[in-house]
Amino acid sequence: MNILIIGSGGREHAFAWKVAQSKSCGQLYVAPGNAGTEKIARNVNLAVSDFAGIRSFVLENAIDMVIVGPEEPLVKGIVDYFKTDKKLKKIRIIGPDASGARLEGSKDFSKAFMQKYNVPTAYSETFTKDTLDEGLKYLETQQGPYVLKADGLAAGKGVIITEDVAEAKKSLHEMLAEAKFGDASSKVLVEQYLHGIELSVFVLTDGKNYVILPEAKDYKRIGVGDTGLNTGGMGAVSPVPFADAEFLAKVEEKVVKPTLYGLQEEGIKYVGFIFIGLMNDNGNPMVIEYNVRMGDPETEVVLPRIKSDLVKLFKAAADGKLDKFKLAVHAKSAVTTMVVAGGYPEDYRKGDKMEIPDPEKDGLVFHAGTKSQGDNVVTNGGRVIALTGMARTMTAAVKKSQKMARKVKYKGSYFRKDIGKDLMKYFDK
Ligand code: AMP
Ligand code: GLY
Repeated sequence: MNILIIGSGGREHAFAWKVAQSKSCGQLYVAPGNAGTEKIARNVNLAVSDFAGIRSFVLENAIDMVIVGPEEPLVKGIVDYFKTDKKLKKIRIIGPDASGARLEGSKDFSKAFMQKYNVPTAYSETFTKDTLDEGLKYLETQQGPYVLKADGLAAGKGVIITEDVAEAKKSLHEMLAEAKFGDASSKVLVEQYLHGIELSVFVLTDGKNYVILPEAKDYKRIGVGDTGLNTGGMGAVSPVPFADAEFLAKVEEKVVKPTLYGLQEEGIKYVGFIFIGLMNDNGNPMVIEYNVRMGDPETEVVLPRIKSDLVKLFKAAADGKLDKFKLAVHAKSAVTTMVVAGGYPEDYRKGDKMEIPDPEKDGLVFHAGTKSQGDNVVTNGGRVIALTGMARTMTAAVKKSQKMARKVKYKGSYFRKDIGKDLMKYFDK
């Protein structure tokens, strides 16, 4: 099968690495890809939402399967575009259509969906420009921390959490009356604050049957000890020690099953990933958010733990046969450390020449924001490169990942030195 992966981050390099190992994989392409995917696939210079360009490429290169990495093309309807085109509709495409992608594209939709299908989640109220005054009064009746969420996609910046009611009111005003996030904040959710530790569970569904992939925890803040600004993710670990069998069974019964039931009830045909962001509230899962794709950098620890052939898994999903698929998982732990550009997540440099280490034994190097320039690889994004270590114990996996991260060299490079450290109390006892 000829396969096209859409996207250019560490997630897509990890997909490419795993897909390339499959005997069913013919020619592999990544659009637009990065300097890492270029070594194992052919990069195609197409933007992720250039549907017409993707269409021509897919037809000219006899592509049999398309794997969509990021949410943007899904929310914009790339799957609908394929399914309504005579020549494209038979091509297997991994990702939900636009109606399914609302689970991520509209927090108001996903909250109403969770409430309707009894998926445990924080209580919330939605306000618009017309009900701004009610929203401001509502905030005064609540206790901090106050959680405000823009309804639409806001490049990871649409969630504001503050202890200060005056600041919460100011933010609500900015989002609704001043359209701080444009259309994305034309509706804002004011949500109850959840206490606990976060983790993510990943489901691949064919619309009816599902497979639960290894869970992961990511490190969202830029600074050591979970301090400073939010980022796309500075590292990840899998498995998550506090997600024991009892907790995961609750996730399956209380979250996964009602979610899939709800999608079917709503008439949404969903083939693809559901990434469930969860809070472990004293052993009970509460859903923080759904995403309609895999996580980044979570993919860089989840895929290395999967033994099964990924192309066979995707084929089963696209063909509605996941009930017959038995997922095999490595017992090893995986840890990834993301090395980022100086200044990230605010303004950062690009175009710096990089030194990249060879992977350690049981180590993997996944490029994220990189590109080739002549014989060199240069930085080309905020999150630059992810170094994954695999080992029998989490402690050894952390060491391997961090050792490789230290060997990445470019001007202004930075990474967190404490990935996985908060979990050591659970591990390797
Ligand atoms: P989201 O984009 O919905 O995932 O929110 C971004 C981050 O904000 C989450 O990963 C959590 O760390 C935090 N967060 C979101 N909603 C809540 C909540 N209701 N209570 C506590 N933290 C939250
Ligand atoms: N690492 C979080 C995400 O992919 O949304």
